Amino acid sequence: MDYPPNKKPLHFRIGEYSTKVEFPAFEDLLAPPEGVKSLWVFDQNTAPLFSSREKASIILPPGEEAKTMESVEDILTAGIENGLARDGLFIGIGGGVVCDMTAFAASIYMRGSRVILIPTTLLAMTDASLGGKTGVDFRGYKNMAGTFFPAEELRICPDLLSSLPERDYISGLAEVIKHAFLVKSDLFEFLEREREAVLLREPQILGRMIRESIKVKGDFVERDFREQAERAFLNFGHTFGHALESVSGFAGWSHGEAVAWGMDKALKAGVLMGETDPDYARKVSAFLALYGFRLEAPGIDPEALINAMGKDKKKREGKIMFVLQKEYGKTFQSEIPRDILQKVLA
Ligand SMILES: NC(=O)c1ccc[n+]([C@@H]2O[C@H](COP(=O)([O-])OP(=O)(O)OC[C@H]3O[C@@H](n4cnc5c(N)ncnc54)[C@H](O)[C@@H]3O)[C@@H](O)[C@H]2O)c1
Repeated sequence: MDYPPNKKPLHFRIGEYSTKVEFPAFEDLLAPPEGVKSLWVFDQNTAPLFSSREKASIILPPGEEAKTMESVEDILTAGIENGLARDGLFIGIGGGVVCDMTAFAASIYMRGSRVILIPTTLLAMTDASLGGKTGVDFRGYKNMAGTFFPAEELRICPDLLSSLPERDYISGLAEVIKHAFLVKSDLFEFLEREREAVLLREPQILGRMIRESIKVKGDFVERDFREQAERAFLNFGHTFGHALESVSGFAGWSHGEAVAWGMDKALKAGVLMGETDPDYARKVSAFLALYGFRLEAPGIDPEALINAMGKDKKKREGKIMFVLQKEYGKTFQSEIPRDILQKVLA
């Protein structure tokens, strides 16, 4: 099926900030903002995606290992060396790691300058670049230091995804699927209908999917910027998923794969608690399996998973609050009794 690409910008009001989401063609992605000094922040995998880059830029090492205070210091130093003033622009071109760090650096440069993000992974396009959470890992803790500082502009171009490794693509897809479960919209049905094209990364299909997914995330963020209530629903599948990532030693399971497994477990727990519609839970399991996600984690000790969940940083007053669903689009938070956790993880 062919979809005319809708390139109209989206606008989100996020706390006291606003974010404009543009959908430019690949050749316009690096168009320099007029009349202001800017610093372009790449990583070693995103810099080669662009043949001409004669602008002030810095190239960081790739991946989560580089998500450090040292990298942020390097961005700040490059800002000074290139003469950025307080109205200077930091422009991050990369996955969630580059986006989080560039926005963090911008948020503290001269007590807050300006930031534009050009996300290059599916996860960054539909999740990390929107909503203003910035930061770095610190002393072994993920995203331990950071700020809330939304980008003034996002530039989204699905063509960039053609070079993304399969594992990173599938990881981002899990978050898109999560958005589809959270809000009643066309996205769920679209992902069911267009599965093959989605997995083949057909550009028209990706354009539509990304736009719909951004709208879901943006809506949550507009309603609850500082995550005091509903924004936490975006953590659906994450308490289970983080535990699996940590117990499996981050080998074997990507973040998105673990989140997909976690959404299935959360719904199964909800069924045992008498809260979740069993037909909906079955439909989700079948849907995730068709997309190729693994729903079992053989060889992983359930007690180790439960212990890891106890260390989840989303604990509230000492309680582990899981994001659960009654049915499609109906989400809530609750503890899960230990015997039910043991049953779903066995
Ligand atoms: N701020 C938020 O709200 C938020 C939300 C979700 C995740 N995150 C953060 O996002 C990070 C994960 O992001 P990610 O999955 O994008 O990982 P990433 O930034 O590490 O990118 C994954 C890999 O793909 C490479 N890459 C990026 N774009 C590419 C392209 N177009 N072609 C080829 N290679 C490319 C990168 O160099 C990297 O090696 C985590 O640090 C997480 O904490 C933040």
